[in-house]
Amino acid sequence: MNIDINVAEIEKRGFLDVGIDPSLDLFHEIELLKKEKNAIILAHYYQEPDIQDIADYIGDSLGLAQKAEKTDADMIVFAGVHFMAETAKILNPSKKVVIPDLRAGCSLSDSCPPPLFKKFKEQYPDHLVISYINCSAGIKALSDIICTSSNAQKIVESLPKDQKIIFAPDKNLGAYINKVTGRNMVLWNGACMVHEIFSLEKITKLKVRHPNAKLISHPECEEPLLRISDFIGSTTQLLKYTKEDHSNEFIVATETGILHQMQKSSPHKTFIPAPPNNACACNDCPHMKLNTLEKIYLCMKYEQPEILMDEELRLAAKKPIDRMLELSAQFGLV
Ligand code: 13P
Ligand code: SF4
Repeated sequence: MNIDINVAEIEKRGFLDVGIDPSLDLFHEIELLKKEKNAIILAHYYQEPDIQDIADYIGDSLGLAQKAEKTDADMIVFAGVHFMAETAKILNPSKKVVIPDLRAGCSLSDSCPPPLFKKFKEQYPDHLVISYINCSAGIKALSDIICTSSNAQKIVESLPKDQKIIFAPDKNLGAYINKVTGRNMVLWNGACMVHEIFSLEKITKLKVRHPNAKLISHPECEEPLLRISDFIGSTTQLLKYTKEDHSNEFIVATETGILHQMQKSSPHKTFIPAPPNNACACNDCPHMKLNTLEKIYLCMKYEQPEILMDEELRLAAKKPIDRMLELSAQFGLV
């Protein structure tokens, strides 16, 4: 290392603030660092296209957790948000896990602070807790089973019909799962800032202008939008649908990053980002989009910021994730 690493300063700022020679070919440099450090880059579909193109694996939250658990790389570079990198560390603690920007959080995760959730849970002593993976290690440690948008329905359906359940932290995904399974889970009142921003009115008008387009939505969206959707699924499921469905046009109600893979897989098809209810035309996740190619290069080179965890918390958080991975393997979701 050729700079002084001040970990406290990096933690305060969130990322390494080191100037980079603008003429550097970052794609090439990152490839060299991957080999030199035996590193793997895991990226979520919501990352910017350049990051997806340099990644070794691109996936949804379930796929990323499965990949993080199994990798034999020495360093996991997590191009996603904090709870995802934390999950990688929980599952594979002997690996160094670095994240381009520690400030890449999640509104859904932030909506559920562990002390408040602990009190909430105490009101329902006979309930099992299923938590969406978009939560902190503290919430995972208070949960019985973790789920993602890929496996939530199957996990809930695997439990006895009369099993009482608390579902946290996403009220929209929880309400959707209640609807499709006929359950009555108690829901924590959390939501994703990206998936709640879509404008039903603008989308309805867009559907009129594009009568052959299929509206496809992530289950973190609100119920009125899900009700008019042609298909609902996790990012991986939405991508798969656009490859297999015969339509040539899709209105996509999730974060815009996924459009890169959709367009790459089906170059002849048209993908229209669902319009949000604001003046600007974007529905990017401000947390996901904190990551840049420059920050990826720096976090690989200096191996900072690094995800570190208290061992007791890690073990408590691992149990419900292991349960999810076991169930997912049983369902064939690998
Ligand atoms: P999936 O990766 O499960 O599709 O969830 C999307 C999301 O919002 C991740 O933050
Ligand atoms: Fe969190 Fe929503 Fe961003 Fe996903 S898209 S990381 S749920 S704020």
